[in-house]
Amino acid sequence: MLQRLDKLIASQGTMSRSETTRLIRSGQVTVDGVVCRDPAAKYDGDVCCITVAGKPLDYQQFVYLMMNKPAGVLCVSRDPRVETVVDLLPPEQKRKGLFPAGRLDKDTVGLVILTDDGDFAHRMLAPKKHVSKCYHVRLDGPITQADIEAFQSGITLADGTPCRPAELRLLEGGDEPLAEIIITEGRYHQIKRMFGTRGLGVTWLKRVSIGRLQLDPRLAEGESRWLTPDECAQAFLS
Ligand code: URA
Repeated sequence: MLQRLDKLIASQGTMSRSETTRLIRSGQVTVDGVVCRDPAAKYDGDVCCITVAGKPLDYQQFVYLMMNKPAGVLCVSRDPRVETVVDLLPPEQKRKGLFPAGRLDKDTVGLVILTDDGDFAHRMLAPKKHVSKCYHVRLDGPITQADIEAFQSGITLADGTPCRPAELRLLEGGDEPLAEIIITEGRYHQIKRMFGTRGLGVTWLKRVSIGRLQLDPRLAEGESRWLTPDECAQAFLS
């Protein structure tokens, strides 16, 4: 895609448009080995080799990040009062236009994908795509075989909304069991509301995978890292 040189460089998030324009005008930007002093000249960042102040520009049209979201942080781009997942990104990962592709509740932890690629997010969130999401959940009461079967058949929420069948598997029994649940849709507070219909309260919830993309266990809560193209594709595989 052809773009103005100043916009193309500034889109990578490391410097402002005015700083970029100044560097271009002062002859510090080369395209395919030739100095370009025109901020409005158009180039394709995927094709051209651009250097800025002597350093090669690692151009990426879109970025994709995986975060291990901590509790207490909002899954939105900006909020005037509460810290957001975008606020947690280190400066080198920050970029204009980043947003979480899919929401977790404020108290839910685990896997969140952040991107500036609207099409990617749309494909992942489109209700008809049925991308699977796996969660680990701690409950305030025992899980019965009847609960597992009810999830298998499809829970109807208290407001009458029918849910698609969900796989519920016990990981740790007892009065405060730990379970794994896989859902293929993303309604508001869906898991908490599904368990609510069975008289069970969720005391802890963590998303561990989206499609075949698993949360990297090396990421501590609040940490994030770039995703490879192969990992991005895994998020759509079931
Ligand atoms: N279901 C919920 O209830 N909360 C989440 O954050 C995600 C799924």
